[in-house]
Amino acid sequence: MDVVVVGAINVDFVVEAERLPGPGETVVGGDVSRHGGGKGANAAVAAARVGARVKLVGAVGADPTGVEALAELQAEGVDTAQVAVLPGTPTGVALISVAADGENQITVGAGANGALTALHVEAALTDALSGALPTGTCVLVSTEIPLPAVAAALRGARHAGVTCVLNPAPVVPGLAGLLEHEPLITPNRSEALALAGELEIPVDDVRRLSALLAHRTGSPVAITLGADGVAVFVEHEPEVVLAPRATARDTTGAGDTFNGVFAARLAAGDPLSVAARYGVVAASLSVEEVGARSGMPSAAAVEAALRR
Ligand code: RIB
Ligand code: NA
Repeated sequence: MDVVVVGAINVDFVVEAERLPGPGETVVGGDVSRHGGGKGANAAVAAARVGARVKLVGAVGADPTGVEALAELQAEGVDTAQVAVLPGTPTGVALISVAADGENQITVGAGANGALTALHVEAALTDALSGALPTGTCVLVSTEIPLPAVAAALRGARHAGVTCVLNPAPVVPGLAGLLEHEPLITPNRSEALALAGELEIPVDDVRRLSALLAHRTGSPVAITLGADGVAVFVEHEPEVVLAPRATARDTTGAGDTFNGVFAARLAAGDPLSVAARYGVVAASLSVEEVGARSGMPSAAAVEAALRR
């Protein structure tokens, strides 16, 4: 199974604190740690840990942080040949606060991720997909890179005839315009609401949100529900795939874990709800350790949890 991920690569600076600060407030926290991050890179690692062959399309700066980020990805078995190393711009950074209940707050400095062009993505994706079999391959794209680069990835995947998953995270202006590429989308509740743009739908009306989005994309929709699992909508009614109970220490990267593992299982040929179940179990394991990638499980760990 082959997964090509197109998305951001960051270094995360994490501070743990009792609670998150309000606007204008300073909270004195505890432990500080540095982790590999970025929604694209995290999903790539999640897919690689469950055994997919993964290529990452993205960008880092020509700085020591970029060198370290690529080395970390390569150590996970992720192919970084299509990651651009851009001089004159720093590697992306995320400043993350994690509260005692596992909730987080993230501010991203895009750096090189923000300089990724449609032209680079188009060429990189063509290279990454050359020789790949449409049936055993999935392209996964997230929106922490400029929208023209995202659109280029969606077009490229469609042109190649491979399954394409769009994780519409984070919400950015113009997000809904991406639906014209008819991707299979994996929004959380608030991303689904932003994509729907229908203010009269309550954020927890997953049934109406998924039906509306599936109608607009002409593709299935999977709405992630955090600790409640994921709602998969294929035709008429969403099927809720429940998440196992987890003790959340840090929910950072749980969505990326779901997406990476979901894409890996779709590439392996699993039906949607089976791939979603695998993804949800992996995500629930990932929140038990601090750091986006720290708790991401192996295939064996997911299978053991599935049997419990
Ligand atoms: O989804 C989690 C990720 O969002 C973090 O790793 C951070 O880098 C931001 O991109
Ligand atoms: Na984690």
